Amino acid sequence: MSAEPLEIHLDDQDIAENLRRDVRVGLTAERKWLPPKWFYDARGSELFDEITRLPEYYPTRAERAVLAGRAAEIAELTGAKTLIELGSGSSEKTRLLLDAFTRRGGLGTFVPLDVSVSALRGSTVTLAADYPGLRVRGIVGDFTRDLDRLPAGGRRLVIFLGGTIGNLLPTERAEFLTRMRTALEAGDWLLVGTDLVKDPAVILPAYDDAAGVTAEFNRNVLRVLNRELGADLDPEAFSHVALWDRDREWIEMRLRAERPMRVRILDLVVSFTAGEELRTEVSAKFRPEGIAAELAAAGWHAERFWTDPDDLFGVTLARAD
Ligand code: SAH
Ligand code: TRP
Repeated sequence: MSAEPLEIHLDDQDIAENLRRDVRVGLTAERKWLPPKWFYDARGSELFDEITRLPEYYPTRAERAVLAGRAAEIAELTGAKTLIELGSGSSEKTRLLLDAFTRRGGLGTFVPLDVSVSALRGSTVTLAADYPGLRVRGIVGDFTRDLDRLPAGGRRLVIFLGGTIGNLLPTERAEFLTRMRTALEAGDWLLVGTDLVKDPAVILPAYDDAAGVTAEFNRNVLRVLNRELGADLDPEAFSHVALWDRDREWIEMRLRAERPMRVRILDLVVSFTAGEELRTEVSAKFRPEGIAAELAAAGWHAERFWTDPDDLFGVTLARAD
Protein backbone atom coordinates (compact mmCIF):
# COMPACT_ATOMS: atom_id res chain seq x y z
CA MET A 1 0.00 0.00 0.00
CA SER A 2 1.23 3.51 -0.55
CA ALA A 3 1.56 5.95 2.32
CA GLU A 4 -1.47 8.06 3.09
CA PRO A 5 -1.08 11.82 3.23
CA LEU A 6 0.04 12.94 6.66
CA GLU A 7 -2.70 13.69 9.15
CA ILE A 8 -2.05 17.09 10.64
CA HIS A 9 -2.86 17.56 14.33
CA LEU A 10 -0.42 20.40 14.53
CA ASP A 11 -0.31 22.81 11.60
CA ASP A 12 2.24 25.50 10.82
CA GLN A 13 0.20 28.06 12.68
CA ASP A 14 -0.07 25.93 15.86
CA ILE A 15 3.65 25.29 15.67
CA ALA A 16 4.46 28.98 15.31
CA GLU A 17 2.14 29.85 18.19
CA ASN A 18 3.64 27.18 20.48
CA LEU A 19 7.14 28.27 19.59
CA ARG A 20 6.36 31.90 20.42
CA ARG A 21 4.86 30.88 23.74
CA ASP A 22 7.78 28.63 24.66
CA VAL A 23 10.29 31.33 23.75
CA ARG A 24 8.43 33.94 25.76
CA VAL A 25 8.29 31.71 28.84
CA GLY A 26 11.75 30.17 28.53
CA LEU A 27 13.88 33.14 27.55
CA THR A 28 12.39 35.49 30.14
CA ALA A 29 12.83 32.96 32.96
CA GLU A 30 15.36 33.55 35.73
CA ARG A 31 17.25 30.50 34.44
CA LYS A 32 16.71 30.42 30.68
CA TRP A 33 15.46 27.25 29.04
CA LEU A 34 13.73 25.91 25.93
CA PRO A 35 11.75 22.68 25.41
CA PRO A 36 13.63 20.09 23.31
CA LYS A 37 11.04 19.62 20.57
CA TRP A 38 12.36 22.71 18.77
CA PHE A 39 15.59 20.94 17.82
CA TYR A 40 13.82 18.91 15.19
CA ASP A 41 13.42 20.86 11.98
CA ALA A 42 14.61 19.04 8.83
CA ARG A 43 18.28 19.74 9.62
CA GLY A 44 17.81 18.83 13.30
CA SER A 45 16.21 15.50 12.41
CA GLU A 46 19.15 14.75 10.09
CA LEU A 47 21.65 15.67 12.79
CA PHE A 48 19.84 13.42 15.26
CA ASP A 49 20.10 10.50 12.84
CA GLU A 50 23.80 11.25 12.58
CA ILE A 51 24.03 11.18 16.40
CA THR A 52 22.52 7.70 16.45
CA ARG A 53 25.43 6.46 14.31
CA LEU A 54 28.21 8.02 16.42
CA PRO A 55 30.59 5.64 18.18
CA GLU A 56 29.92 7.42 21.51
CA TYR A 57 26.12 7.25 21.25
CA TYR A 58 25.41 3.79 22.68
CA PRO A 59 21.60 4.10 23.32
CA THR A 60 20.52 3.39 19.74
CA ARG A 61 22.73 0.32 19.36
CA ALA A 62 21.77 -1.02 22.79
CA GLU A 63 18.06 -0.54 22.21
CA ARG A 64 18.34 -2.12 18.77
CA ALA A 65 20.00 -5.17 20.36
CA VAL A 66 17.06 -5.57 22.75
CA LEU A 67 14.49 -5.20 19.99
CA ALA A 68 16.34 -7.63 17.73
CA GLY A 69 16.23 -10.27 20.46
CA ARG A 70 12.66 -9.64 21.61
CA ALA A 71 10.65 -8.52 18.60
CA ALA A 72 9.03 -11.92 18.03
CA GLU A 73 8.08 -12.16 21.71
CA ILE A 74 6.62 -8.63 21.64
CA ALA A 75 4.54 -9.46 18.59
CA GLU A 76 3.31 -12.69 20.19
CA LEU A 77 2.54 -11.24 23.64
CA THR A 78 0.71 -8.17 22.40
CA GLY A 79 -0.95 -9.57 19.29
CA ALA A 80 -1.30 -5.94 18.23
CA LYS A 81 -3.47 -4.93 15.29
CA THR A 82 -2.37 -1.30 15.38
CA LEU A 83 1.17 -0.12 16.14
CA ILE A 84 1.51 3.53 17.16
CA GLU A 85 4.96 5.11 17.48
CA LEU A 86 5.45 8.39 19.37
CA GLY A 87 8.44 10.56 18.42
CA SER A 88 9.03 8.13 15.59
CA GLY A 89 11.82 10.03 13.77
CA SER A 90 13.16 7.72 11.06
CA SER A 91 11.43 4.62 12.60
CA GLU A 92 14.63 2.73 11.78
CA LYS A 93 14.61 0.38 14.81
CA THR A 94 10.85 -0.06 14.43
CA ARG A 95 11.51 -2.17 11.34
CA LEU A 96 12.59 -4.97 13.68
CA LEU A 97 9.09 -4.97 15.15
CA LEU A 98 7.38 -4.57 11.79
CA ASP A 99 9.36 -7.58 10.50
CA ALA A 100 8.27 -9.66 13.48
CA PHE A 101 4.63 -8.59 13.11
CA THR A 102 4.78 -9.34 9.38
CA ARG A 103 5.96 -12.88 10.14
CA ARG A 104 3.28 -13.35 12.79
CA GLY A 105 0.46 -11.70 10.87
CA GLY A 106 -2.38 -9.62 12.29
CA LEU A 107 -0.87 -6.14 12.29
CA GLY A 108 -2.93 -3.93 9.98
CA THR A 109 -1.89 -0.36 10.63
CA PHE A 110 1.26 1.52 11.58
CA VAL A 111 0.83 5.06 12.91
CA PRO A 112 4.05 7.06 13.40
CA LEU A 113 3.56 10.41 15.18
CA ASP A 114 6.18 13.16 15.23
CA VAL A 115 6.50 16.95 15.32
CA SER A 116 8.95 16.73 12.47
CA VAL A 117 7.10 16.80 9.14
CA SER A 118 10.28 16.07 7.20
CA ALA A 119 11.12 12.98 9.26
CA LEU A 120 7.56 11.67 8.90
CA ARG A 121 7.43 12.28 5.18
CA GLY A 122 10.57 10.25 4.66
CA SER A 123 9.65 7.39 6.97
CA THR A 124 6.03 6.93 5.84
CA VAL A 125 6.93 6.75 2.16
CA THR A 126 9.75 4.22 2.58
CA LEU A 127 7.88 2.11 5.15
CA ALA A 128 4.76 1.91 2.99
CA ALA A 129 6.94 0.73 0.09
CA ASP A 130 8.85 -1.80 2.21
CA TYR A 131 5.77 -3.23 4.01
CA PRO A 132 3.21 -3.61 1.23
CA GLY A 133 0.57 -5.26 3.44
CA LEU A 134 0.61 -2.47 6.00
CA ARG A 135 -1.50 0.66 6.16
CA VAL A 136 0.88 3.51 7.09
CA ARG A 137 -0.76 6.60 8.47
CA GLY A 138 1.60 9.32 9.74
CA ILE A 139 0.43 11.96 12.19
CA VAL A 140 2.08 15.35 12.59
CA GLY A 141 1.51 16.02 16.26
CA ASP A 142 2.91 16.74 19.70
CA PHE A 143 2.95 13.75 22.05
CA THR A 144 2.57 16.05 25.03
CA ARG A 145 -0.76 17.34 23.64
CA ASP A 146 -2.26 15.20 20.91
CA LEU A 147 -2.78 11.84 22.62
CA ASP A 148 -6.55 12.05 22.63
CA ARG A 149 -6.69 11.63 18.86
CA LEU A 150 -4.90 8.35 18.40
CA PRO A 151 -6.66 5.76 16.24
CA ALA A 152 -9.30 3.93 18.26
CA GLY A 153 -10.06 0.26 18.65
CA GLY A 154 -8.24 -2.95 17.83
CA ARG A 155 -5.44 -4.17 20.02
CA ARG A 156 -3.06 -1.27 20.18
CA LEU A 157 0.63 -1.22 20.98
CA VAL A 158 2.15 2.21 21.55
CA ILE A 159 5.93 2.38 21.34
CA PHE A 160 8.10 5.20 22.64
CA LEU A 161 11.72 4.47 21.83
CA GLY A 162 15.11 6.12 21.98
CA GLY A 163 14.88 7.14 25.63
CA THR A 164 12.78 10.11 24.51
CA ILE A 165 10.59 9.73 27.61
CA GLY A 166 13.68 10.88 29.53
CA ASN A 167 13.55 14.21 27.70
CA LEU A 168 10.38 15.05 29.65
CA LEU A 169 10.76 16.55 33.12
CA PRO A 170 9.57 14.26 35.94
CA THR A 171 6.20 16.01 36.33
CA GLU A 172 5.67 16.08 32.55
CA ARG A 173 6.57 12.41 32.47
CA ALA A 174 3.98 11.46 35.07
CA GLU A 175 1.38 13.50 33.22
CA PHE A 176 2.35 11.92 29.90
CA LEU A 177 2.03 8.36 31.24
CA THR A 178 -1.36 9.13 32.76
CA ARG A 179 -2.68 10.77 29.59
CA MET A 180 -1.37 7.87 27.54
CA ARG A 181 -3.24 5.46 29.80
CA THR A 182 -6.45 7.50 29.50
CA ALA A 183 -6.12 7.55 25.72
CA LEU A 184 -5.95 3.74 25.61
CA GLU A 185 -8.08 0.89 26.90
CA ALA A 186 -7.45 -1.95 29.31
CA GLY A 187 -5.53 -4.61 27.42
CA ASP A 188 -3.64 -2.18 25.18
CA TRP A 189 0.15 -2.14 25.44
CA LEU A 190 3.02 0.29 25.85
CA LEU A 191 6.65 -0.42 24.93
CA VAL A 192 9.02 2.17 26.31
CA GLY A 193 12.78 2.48 25.93
CA THR A 194 14.78 4.03 28.77
CA ASP A 195 18.48 4.70 29.08
CA LEU A 196 19.77 3.34 32.40
CA VAL A 197 21.77 4.97 35.19
CA LYS A 198 25.44 4.05 34.82
CA ASP A 199 28.94 5.48 35.14
CA PRO A 200 28.74 9.10 33.90
CA ALA A 201 32.03 8.47 32.08
CA VAL A 202 30.03 6.28 29.69
CA ILE A 203 27.01 8.59 29.46
CA LEU A 204 28.70 11.96 28.98
CA PRO A 205 30.54 11.27 25.70
CA ALA A 206 27.21 10.17 24.18
CA TYR A 207 26.09 13.80 24.64
CA ASP A 208 29.41 15.44 23.84
CA ASP A 209 30.95 13.54 20.95
CA ALA A 210 34.44 14.10 19.57
CA ALA A 211 33.21 15.01 16.08
CA GLY A 212 30.98 17.78 17.47
CA VAL A 213 27.73 16.52 15.93
CA THR A 214 25.83 16.86 19.22
CA ALA A 215 27.16 20.41 19.62
CA GLU A 216 25.83 21.23 16.15
CA PHE A 217 22.51 19.60 17.00
CA ASN A 218 22.26 21.64 20.18
CA ARG A 219 23.03 24.92 18.38
CA ASN A 220 20.46 24.04 15.73
CA VAL A 221 17.71 25.23 18.05
CA LEU A 222 19.14 28.76 17.73
CA ARG A 223 18.95 28.50 13.94
CA VAL A 224 15.30 27.45 14.27
CA LEU A 225 14.58 30.56 16.36
CA ASN A 226 16.36 32.78 13.85
CA ARG A 227 14.45 31.37 10.93
CA GLU A 228 11.00 30.97 12.48
CA LEU A 229 10.96 34.13 14.58
CA GLY A 230 13.39 36.36 12.73
CA ALA A 231 15.68 36.44 15.76
CA ASP A 232 19.32 37.48 15.49
CA LEU A 233 21.07 34.91 17.66
CA ASP A 234 24.67 34.11 16.71
CA PRO A 235 24.93 30.31 17.04
CA GLU A 236 28.73 30.46 16.89
CA ALA A 237 28.77 32.60 20.02
CA PHE A 238 27.27 29.75 22.06
CA SER A 239 29.17 26.66 23.12
CA HIS A 240 27.75 23.23 23.79
CA VAL A 241 27.70 22.04 27.40
CA ALA A 242 26.67 18.56 28.59
CA LEU A 243 26.71 17.81 32.29
CA TRP A 244 25.63 15.00 34.58
CA ASP A 245 23.30 15.95 37.43
CA ARG A 246 24.11 13.37 40.06
CA ASP A 247 21.11 14.04 42.28
CA ARG A 248 18.51 14.02 39.57
CA GLU A 249 20.31 11.37 37.53
CA TRP A 250 19.93 13.20 34.27
CA ILE A 251 22.12 14.69 31.58
CA GLU A 252 21.57 18.35 31.03
CA MET A 253 22.31 19.99 27.71
CA ARG A 254 22.99 23.68 27.68
CA LEU A 255 24.19 26.43 25.38
CA ARG A 256 26.67 28.79 27.03
CA ALA A 257 26.94 32.39 25.84
CA GLU A 258 30.65 33.01 25.26
CA ARG A 259 30.27 36.78 25.43
CA PRO A 260 27.61 39.21 26.67
CA MET A 261 24.79 39.50 24.15
CA ARG A 262 21.56 41.35 23.59
CA VAL A 263 19.26 39.48 21.29
CA ARG A 264 16.10 40.62 19.57
CA ILE A 265 13.40 38.02 19.49
CA LEU A 266 9.63 38.60 19.11
CA ASP A 267 9.03 41.89 20.87
CA LEU A 268 11.64 41.04 23.48
CA VAL A 269 15.24 42.05 23.98
CA VAL A 270 16.90 39.15 25.75
CA SER A 271 20.25 39.71 27.44
CA PHE A 272 22.86 37.06 28.08
CA THR A 273 25.80 37.70 30.40
CA ALA A 274 29.14 36.12 29.46
CA GLY A 275 29.02 32.50 30.60
CA GLU A 276 25.25 32.47 31.03
CA GLU A 277 23.67 29.16 30.09
CA LEU A 278 20.42 28.29 28.37
CA ARG A 279 19.09 24.80 29.15
CA THR A 280 17.95 23.07 25.98
CA GLU A 281 17.31 19.55 27.18
CA VAL A 282 17.43 17.04 29.97
CA SER A 283 17.90 13.34 29.27
CA ALA A 284 16.94 11.36 32.37
CA LYS A 285 18.51 7.99 33.09
CA PHE A 286 16.44 5.34 34.84
CA ARG A 287 16.60 2.49 37.34
CA PRO A 288 14.46 -0.60 36.71
CA GLU A 289 12.47 -0.24 39.94
CA GLY A 290 11.81 3.43 39.19
CA ILE A 291 10.40 2.68 35.75
CA ALA A 292 7.98 0.04 37.07
CA ALA A 293 6.85 2.38 39.85
CA GLU A 294 6.23 5.32 37.52
CA LEU A 295 4.25 3.09 35.18
CA ALA A 296 2.21 1.62 38.02
CA ALA A 297 1.36 5.09 39.32
CA ALA A 298 -0.16 5.86 35.91
CA GLY A 299 -2.21 2.67 35.61
CA TRP A 300 0.28 0.49 33.71
CA HIS A 301 1.53 -2.92 34.68
CA ALA A 302 5.11 -3.69 33.62
CA GLU A 303 4.95 -7.25 32.28
CA ARG A 304 8.49 -7.53 30.89
CA PHE A 305 11.75 -5.64 31.34
CA TRP A 306 14.69 -6.41 29.07
CA THR A 307 18.19 -4.99 28.75
CA ASP A 308 20.99 -5.38 26.21
CA PRO A 309 23.93 -7.68 27.11
CA ASP A 310 25.88 -4.74 28.61
CA ASP A 311 22.93 -3.49 30.71
CA LEU A 312 23.13 -0.05 29.15
CA PHE A 313 19.53 0.40 28.07
CA GLY A 314 16.17 -0.94 29.26
CA VAL A 315 13.01 -1.75 27.32
CA THR A 316 9.76 -2.25 29.26
CA LEU A 317 6.59 -3.82 27.92
CA ALA A 318 3.61 -2.71 29.98
CA ARG A 319 -0.08 -3.51 29.78
CA ALA A 320 -2.91 -1.09 30.51
CA ASP A 321 -4.61 -2.38 33.69
N1 SAH B 1 12.37 7.27 17.98
C1 SAH B 1 13.58 7.65 17.26
C2 SAH B 1 13.86 9.16 17.35
C3 SAH B 1 14.19 9.68 18.73
S1 SAH B 1 14.63 11.43 18.72
C4 SAH B 1 14.75 6.88 17.83
O1 SAH B 1 14.56 6.13 18.77
O2 SAH B 1 15.85 7.00 17.30
C5 SAH B 1 13.14 12.15 19.31
C6 SAH B 1 12.05 12.25 18.26
O3 SAH B 1 10.89 12.76 18.89
C7 SAH B 1 12.37 13.19 17.10
O4 SAH B 1 11.99 12.60 15.88
C8 SAH B 1 11.52 14.44 17.39
O5 SAH B 1 11.12 15.10 16.21
C9 SAH B 1 10.36 13.84 18.15
N2 SAH B 1 9.76 14.75 19.14
C10 SAH B 1 10.38 15.48 20.08
N3 SAH B 1 9.48 16.14 20.85
C11 SAH B 1 8.25 15.79 20.38
C12 SAH B 1 6.91 16.12 20.76
N4 SAH B 1 6.66 16.94 21.80
N5 SAH B 1 5.90 15.56 20.06
C13 SAH B 1 6.14 14.73 19.00
N6 SAH B 1 7.38 14.39 18.60
C14 SAH B 1 8.42 14.90 19.28
N1 TRP C 1 16.21 11.10 23.16
C1 TRP C 1 17.61 11.40 22.91
C2 TRP C 1 18.38 11.17 24.21
O1 TRP C 1 17.97 11.65 25.25
C3 TRP C 1 17.76 12.79 22.39
C4 TRP C 1 19.16 13.28 22.26
C5 TRP C 1 20.27 12.58 22.03
C6 TRP C 1 19.60 14.60 22.36
N2 TRP C 1 21.38 13.38 21.96
C7 TRP C 1 20.98 14.61 22.15
C8 TRP C 1 18.96 15.79 22.57
C9 TRP C 1 21.70 15.77 22.19
C10 TRP C 1 19.69 16.95 22.61
C11 TRP C 1 21.07 16.95 22.43
O2 TRP C 1 19.39 10.51 24.20
